[in-house]
Amino acid sequence: MTIRITKRVRDAIAKDKKVMYTSTREHYPFVVDRGAGDYAWDIAGNRYIDFSSFISTYNLGVNGTAEVRHAVKSQVDKLMHAAFLDYYAELPVRFAENILSMMPRGFGRVFFSNSGTEANEDAIKLARLFTKRSYIIGFYGGFHGRSLGSLGLTATSTAHREHFGPFPSVVHALYPYTYRCPFGTDDPEECSKACIDHIERNILGKEYSPKEVAAIFVEPVQGEGGYIVPPRSFIKELRRIADENDILLVADEVQSGYMRTGKFLAMENFGVTADIYTMAKAIGGGFPVGVTVGKSSLGDTPPGSHAGTFGGNLVAMAAGNAALGHLKRNRRKLESMVKERNRYIMKRLNRMKEAYEIVGDVRGLGLMLAVEFVKSKRTKTPAVKERDAILEGCFNNGLLALPCGASTARIIPPITMSMANIRKGMDILDDSIRKTCR
Ligand SMILES: Cc1ncc(COP(=O)(O)O)c(C=O)c1O
Repeated sequence: MTIRITKRVRDAIAKDKKVMYTSTREHYPFVVDRGAGDYAWDIAGNRYIDFSSFISTYNLGVNGTAEVRHAVKSQVDKLMHAAFLDYYAELPVRFAENILSMMPRGFGRVFFSNSGTEANEDAIKLARLFTKRSYIIGFYGGFHGRSLGSLGLTATSTAHREHFGPFPSVVHALYPYTYRCPFGTDDPEECSKACIDHIERNILGKEYSPKEVAAIFVEPVQGEGGYIVPPRSFIKELRRIADENDILLVADEVQSGYMRTGKFLAMENFGVTADIYTMAKAIGGGFPVGVTVGKSSLGDTPPGSHAGTFGGNLVAMAAGNAALGHLKRNRRKLESMVKERNRYIMKRLNRMKEAYEIVGDVRGLGLMLAVEFVKSKRTKTPAVKERDAILEGCFNNGLLALPCGASTARIIPPITMSMANIRKGMDILDDSIRKTCR
């Protein structure tokens, strides 16, 4: 299939460039019109297989499920905005109860906001409030959002941070990116241990008293940083450090949560429970919802200490609650769909790694998968231009996929994508890599 770029597409992009502040747009000219299930269509009528889930948001299919759309339409006719910070309403509480039913035992309080960055702002505030401590430990390669508190935690690229500081009291630690271990070892366990030792010996041993550290914020799988899966021991050791020092462990599951890794919570893959979880993207069922969930034992917020006008917006709650209802009813089926698709995609990715010098690493959990491109397997120099060309090649053949990290491409189709389209998408990706290598 060849994609046609029409005048209407070019005009839409030109108008955007004139009036919108520049954001992080892709190299390829995708102007979206509509979507359903496995597909998105642009305004020229071109159809694309979606390997992006619109940034890990349409986990249950592009434009959500029929129940989600029905719930949204009904709620719009009833009441859209509830001023949930001032007035009581049943729907947000029902959604909160539903979320809590998916959490490990001991979680009892929920705060609703409108985005991932806000969910993390809320978690920063809760961690400081509950511990009465100020410092936060984040990780290099971590992405937590772009509002100032979350941006202070974000350390994926200086482009995100330049001119926006100074930031609140955050210290960054090293994350075990085992393909490029910051300590130079090829052994994942050694890498994990060296990262943990660095936190204990240097950060907590020499720089910041553990008595002043409120929380460790971690993405169980780093997303924007390059789809990096840490060894299980790393997350377990973070839990130990937190426990030994009364520090809270906060899991940012904005991208990795909501069945993306095959479990409702990505932390389940590591057998570790955090003290606070943040979620957004998919949990809104297509609407802007940020969720911060804390253990009951942490306590409650004093009146007036934290609120937001649109948190608990009824249309967003209707969408999120209907999506979660669907997920709960189909949980086992979704889990096995993730497994089947993961097996197939990983098999194809491993074959690509054998066949192409440019494919340096393939990795991921569940349907949070990625391929990292390098100039050569020996030097591991990031092949940035080649990665961009490969994604453009995919687009030109009807496949939407997104970059992450320096030279990595994400493979994050909706969990519900048919095996036929998964195969087609992988064929397009393979073809695009082969053509770029020539
Ligand atoms: C792990 C993680 N946390 C936070 C965010 C910020 O979410 P939002 O863009 O909704 O503010 C993102 C966005 O990509 C993310 O991947």
